[in-house]
Amino acid sequence: MFKINTIIKDAFDIINDKENLKLAADIIKNGGTVAFPTETVYGLGANALDVNAVSKIFKAKGRPQDNPLIVHVDSFDMIYSLVEDFCENAKKLAQKFWPGPLTIILKRSKLVPSEVSAGLDTVAIRMPSNEIARKLISLSKTPIAAPSANLSGSPSPTTSEHVISDLNGRVDMILNSYSSTVGLESTVISLAGEKPRLLRPGFVTLDELKDILGEVEVDKAVFSSISNDAVVNAPGMKYKHYAPKATVKIVKSSFEDFILYVNNKNEEGTAALVFNGEGQRLSVPFVEYGKQNDSQNQAAHLFDALRQLDKINAKIVYARCPSDEGIGLAVTNRLFKAAGFEVIEL
Ligand code: TXA
Ligand code: MG
Repeated sequence: MFKINTIIKDAFDIINDKENLKLAADIIKNGGTVAFPTETVYGLGANALDVNAVSKIFKAKGRPQDNPLIVHVDSFDMIYSLVEDFCENAKKLAQKFWPGPLTIILKRSKLVPSEVSAGLDTVAIRMPSNEIARKLISLSKTPIAAPSANLSGSPSPTTSEHVISDLNGRVDMILNSYSSTVGLESTVISLAGEKPRLLRPGFVTLDELKDILGEVEVDKAVFSSISNDAVVNAPGMKYKHYAPKATVKIVKSSFEDFILYVNNKNEEGTAALVFNGEGQRLSVPFVEYGKQNDSQNQAAHLFDALRQLDKINAKIVYARCPSDEGIGLAVTNRLFKAAGFEVIEL
């Protein structure tokens, strides 16, 4: 079905790689699709104000039409035309966390095509900090709608290799750049309802949001699975996400109990997802996903680790349970989603 000749060019530096960035911006202006780096994960971008361009994103990813996209901007000027009201709370959050890994949901203006927001009356806005992303938006002179640049259902891409493996031949251009530093998608907060509501945890933590906003409700999708036909506040949270092909089970236990439990398994394809340095005590294949007491480090490596599990042909994966404090809430959310919220308590 896809026979696109994908152009792959370097974008490590906004000066040295300027010609490549100009080409990428021309593709966006002409209604094409470009995968580009951000500090959270790579995004697959198209002109947010062009319905036909936006439809190419859904096709390339195999993304369900009812899952809305985030609109990326590089300046405050770009925002005012996209939303009905850039409210006080939004301004406070923007001042503190933008540019950076936070997405704010507000009531949508008529300028934003309904397709971008999957028919909702809101729009998700983010001002990324990655300088390549910012340059691409400013050269394109338009807000860029971009979901994560993976095939729908697979883990979000944190390197250009991940993007190439998922989307080569399905998009017009892929920018080859550094690994994403944060490694998990942005924190998503809705300011469109009566109370601020956290829809997706990320690098900007719940406590940091509460410091600015006071009360913040946490959507139940953060902690539990939701059936596919459910009506939800965060449509993306209901799909099986971030998942390797293997069945993942989270094991809540001490390390010693984990070792005993997993080393006794002898089903074919058993593997373990563990913290750095733990693998040597295991008698099954393993992938390490970061330092035990360092949620930021786990965030940066989790998605790559999930992809590595596919590479070693894991069928059943037993995973060490991360802390859910601070950024750990985002790590926990993504890993629990990969596991379909299946937890074994020893
Ligand atoms: O870090 C990120 O946010 C990355 C980079 C590329 O910016 N983007 C990203 O996009 O993760 P995506 O499409 O994979 O996730 C967007 C999430 C989905 O869960 C979607 O349902 C939710 O944001 N979302 C978008 N617009 C929304 C809206 N108007 N109301 C509620 N949820 C919305
Ligand atoms: Mg995504």
